[in-house]
Amino acid sequence: MSDFVTQTRLAEALGGHDHVDYSWLDELPTHLGPPDLKMGLRNLDLSRWFPVDDLTQLQRSAKLDILAAHPEVVQWQDSALPACHELLALVVEYTAAQPEPGLHPIDAAARLVAEDLSVMVRSDQATGSPGSWRLAAGSLAFGNQWTMAEKIGGSLLDIHEPTDGYAELLAAKVDTFFDNLRPGRLAWRRNWFVHDIDDYHQPVKFVHQHTSDPRVAGTLWIRSERETLRRLPETGAIVFTIKTQIAPMVALLARPAKAEEVADHLAAATDRGLRAKDADGRAAALISYLRSA
Ligand code: HEM
Repeated sequence: MSDFVTQTRLAEALGGHDHVDYSWLDELPTHLGPPDLKMGLRNLDLSRWFPVDDLTQLQRSAKLDILAAHPEVVQWQDSALPACHELLALVVEYTAAQPEPGLHPIDAAARLVAEDLSVMVRSDQATGSPGSWRLAAGSLAFGNQWTMAEKIGGSLLDIHEPTDGYAELLAAKVDTFFDNLRPGRLAWRRNWFVHDIDDYHQPVKFVHQHTSDPRVAGTLWIRSERETLRRLPETGAIVFTIKTQIAPMVALLARPAKAEEVADHLAAATDRGLRAKDADGRAAALISYLRSA
């Protein structure tokens, strides 16, 4: 069942892709120029923590299917329990929904929203020794080529080990951001990738197809994560949310200004920049397709 949680299936429930609101495509970051990796964080009103759209309820029920088939997508360390209780209380307040009883609070909280949730704890909070921000609990039904089980307990540097350039370009900035994030502030960023398939649950690193054919490029998918960061006022832990959104390439073509921006971005990107978006080996075909509008 969970292996059939695709954007195609969710869109069909709304009458097809033409009936889905793909306006989030306008938010894809296409800033050109070095460095390749960007924090790209902006402030957001707390009322926008868990935005609801036409797919939210469908994604929530898809998440329940995935949790039933793959319970290992939820992981926690004992040190995270107070922070997870605090998170659950805030999610309950935000959604005005009742949590399912008898579950670990990270599991209960993640079932109330479409987003995947991670709780980051600075390890000195738990051990009394100086440490770094670590992934202490999480629910990741819609993982993009990673799993909670492989990352749990890891520092920000460990977690980003596969991200080419993170250690040199971003690690220090992200650590400083985490240390300085004030309760009451909500920060967000968005990323995007090119995918061959539209499955929400993609825990395994895949090898993507290369093509020079614009028609093939037009059958690919844009996958994007709207990510937020918020510090919990009582425990001081930081909550990282990921809202996964998937659109057929044709939906991007239907937004000509954005399609042109994405094409320009791909045309100017370095090899590392293309690899980071799973666009290497197909960039020319994508550019040609996106400029055919
Ligand atoms: C200020 C906070 C953060 C920044 C600026 C950041 C930045 C990035 C960037 C630039 C990438 C490459 C793909 C992309 O553009 O998104 C990435 C990948 C990733 N991030 Fe973060 N990140 C942050 C926080 C976190 C946190 C809290 C987690 C905890 C779960 C996390 C988990 C990951 C994972 C698993 C990947 C994919 C790694 C891979 O397999 O390549 N990030 N991050």
